Amino acid sequence: MAQYPNYDSIRRIGVLGTGTIGSSWATYFLAQGFQVSAWDPADGWQDRMVAFIDNAWPHMEALGLAPGADKTAISFHDSPGDAVADVGFVQENAPEKMQVKRDLYRRIDNALPEKTILSSSTSGLIMSDMQDGFASAGRFVVGHPFNPPHLIPLVEVVAGKDTDPAAVDWSIGFYNHIGKHAIRINKEVPGHLANRLQAALWREAVLAVKNDLASVEDINAAVAQGPGLRWALMGPHMIMNLAGGKGGFRQMIDHFGPGMQSWWETMTENPELTPSLSNALIEGVAEEAGERSINDLEEERDERLIRLLTMLKETTR
Ligand SMILES: NC(=O)c1ccc[n+]([C@@H]2O[C@H](COP(=O)([O-])OP(=O)(O)OC[C@H]3O[C@@H](n4cnc5c(N)ncnc54)[C@H](O)[C@@H]3O)[C@@H](O)[C@H]2O)c1
Repeated sequence: MAQYPNYDSIRRIGVLGTGTIGSSWATYFLAQGFQVSAWDPADGWQDRMVAFIDNAWPHMEALGLAPGADKTAISFHDSPGDAVADVGFVQENAPEKMQVKRDLYRRIDNALPEKTILSSSTSGLIMSDMQDGFASAGRFVVGHPFNPPHLIPLVEVVAGKDTDPAAVDWSIGFYNHIGKHAIRINKEVPGHLANRLQAALWREAVLAVKNDLASVEDINAAVAQGPGLRWALMGPHMIMNLAGGKGGFRQMIDHFGPGMQSWWETMTENPELTPSLSNALIEGVAEEAGERSINDLEEERDERLIRLLTMLKETTR
């Protein structure tokens, strides 16, 4: 990995696209003590980005800022080439469209410093297609975060066909170095890994509404007040390891495996998000939310997340 920079030498990070995910990433990088060079093509993006960071900063303070962290250490650029010209790492957060991402890569391909890695936040695009034909393609990886990236630790790192394997190792190490929890995804599949897990659960949650198994509120409780509590602590396989009692995973598989297998055999239906099913979901959530606006719910989520993250940090062995 000699050709990539020492992690401690990186001072400035480029953020391309500063919407929901880009502004959140920028907040995280600033809180970790980096300078940020940003670019976005929309009118008024600088003000929206600053407002996002101002709003999220108290949460970053609650989680602990790196020495010297400065929420104003941002430079705003007029072109993506300018924003990446002097940075040690780039996080790309352009809209989730292949052509938009490729047009952007075309604009920075020659400007990206020769040892700088570009990591795309893409939720579902395939890097092999995104990077095809660019001179710096070897340094393009997927670094997929979960919303909001300034709070959720997970980053899924995926290589494309032209990605230098050392660039993947470097990126995983870099994300971990700055306090994220990076995982390596070995194959390119739509939705990477975590979104596929999420999609599998949400499919059942949508079917439960479609088939009138329970109310939207009770379906939420079935996860948030039940298995979701355990999944957040240890993940699905480790929790199953404990479902078999002292006999562990082997006993769980022997005991519950056949039943689970027979349930899987009934799980063949894909719900269609028709207008009526979509309305049932939207109305069910609105009823449960009551007076709480999206802002209120985001605030509730983030406050709870901070407590959960603090607790997990304190209790991790
Ligand atoms: N929203 C999520 O939950 C989530 C989670 C993880 C990853 N992502 C990924 O992050 C990326 C950005 O998604 P988002 O939710 O922030 O979208 P968004 O619409 O909130 O933000 C996109 C930003 O890109 C800007 N933009 C428009 N054209 C552009 C261009 N040609 N080049 C660069 N920027 C351009 C827009 O002005 C906007 O500020 C996507 O690849 C998405 O898949 C999203």
